[in-house]
Amino acid sequence: MDKLLITGGQVLRGDVFVSGAKNAALPLLAATLLAEGETCLLNVPNLRDIDTMRRLLLSLGAESHYVSNEKRFCVQTSPTSPCLAHYDLVRTMRASIVLLGPLLARYGKAKVSLPGGCAIGARPVNLHLSALEKMGAKIDLADGYILAECDRLQGAEIWFDTVTVTGTENIMMAATLAQGKTILRNAAREPEVRDLANCLIQMGARIEGAGTDTITIEGVEALQGTTYSIMPDRIEAGTLIVAAAITGGDVHVIGDIAPLLDSVIIKLRDCGVKIESTPQGVRVIGNGIISRDVTTSPYPGFPTDMQAQYMALMCRAKGVSSIEETIFENRFMHVAELRRMGAQIEIQGPRAVVRGAAQLKGAPVMATDLRASASLVLAALAAEGTTEVQRIYHLDRGYEQLETKLAALGAQIERVSS
Ligand code: UD1
Repeated sequence: MDKLLITGGQVLRGDVFVSGAKNAALPLLAATLLAEGETCLLNVPNLRDIDTMRRLLLSLGAESHYVSNEKRFCVQTSPTSPCLAHYDLVRTMRASIVLLGPLLARYGKAKVSLPGGCAIGARPVNLHLSALEKMGAKIDLADGYILAECDRLQGAEIWFDTVTVTGTENIMMAATLAQGKTILRNAAREPEVRDLANCLIQMGARIEGAGTDTITIEGVEALQGTTYSIMPDRIEAGTLIVAAAITGGDVHVIGDIAPLLDSVIIKLRDCGVKIESTPQGVRVIGNGIISRDVTTSPYPGFPTDMQAQYMALMCRAKGVSSIEETIFENRFMHVAELRRMGAQIEIQGPRAVVRGAAQLKGAPVMATDLRASASLVLAALAAEGTTEVQRIYHLDRGYEQLETKLAALGAQIERVSS
């Protein structure tokens, strides 16, 4: 199993490019099932989750090929499919649930393993299922699988009790081929939802309002393959910005990310990080970080996917900060590991209170989930001595060559196999 060895204290400098967004690529790959013929996605990051989705698509009868140096991923769908997303693949990637909507809409049936809980919480899919039932699907749960069937799905008015990103994506995809109009209320406004809608529209779907909390979809008879370039990864960009800030560096993060990261950029500026927009991206200059409180919330709020990285930064900031997690009930797994590096953090229910300015010290630590792993890498960059980050397969699910990018900026970081 690979691990990362990071010796802290290097000031990061230089240019770094942001990869395509994992959380946009996964639903877009699922969306290829909706279209007849071939769909080619560009700017698809080379990640473990993307490979899992490739294997799922193959098991569903869709041939694909990925040209990694061009980041081009083409999928050729078939008029028939076994419609089975097996537990062995789904258990490694919860986002596999986004296959349910497209399978039902295109093939009229689906057998998708229930994703189950994960390190950050129970993460139910009840809202996905009740919306599909409202659209006329018959749904049963048996032996750990969701069994869904329908004739043609029917348009419906759906009100999501909670804002759900993959839930909104799943139902928006299902509605593209439904009979009649579907209206999604309290829909997720995340930029990845808008990216998915833009690609679906290029395939021939009729969608209005994606990016707002009300999305209207007028079903069509069929969708056609297209070529579409995926948006940049705002969470990777945010992580790289924090890497610059935590090391007191001067880094140019390249990609059209500033409009996607308002809440993070404003918060970091409030903490004393200098962030300037440039024609290519943002330039980040870190020095003298000040503690500031934050609360996570759905877009356009501060993303839960940046909470762990922000906490690493607050460990080095001057003062005390409160970090409140409102999206997932168990998303503080990184706290125990950060404490092993000398961080002073106390958990009070959904809130972590961070006493800043601790001199972090290198230690062996264990990655517990994707973003938690990133926070350990960031803390290690600012720590005295060497940190060994184990179980980095979590990191490989969602960050494309993070160690190569950080090393190019001057970090002392090395991947070793044990
Ligand atoms: C997506 C992102 C993930 C991010 C999360 C929140 C992808 C592939 N993943 O995950 O990186 O952390 O949004 O921004 O895009 N909920 C229910 N019932 C449901 C569905 C959700 O109660 O049927 C709850 C969840 O438990 C959670 C909240 O709604 O408390 C938000 O979850 P959701 O937006 O669905 O997260 P994902 O789409 O799984």
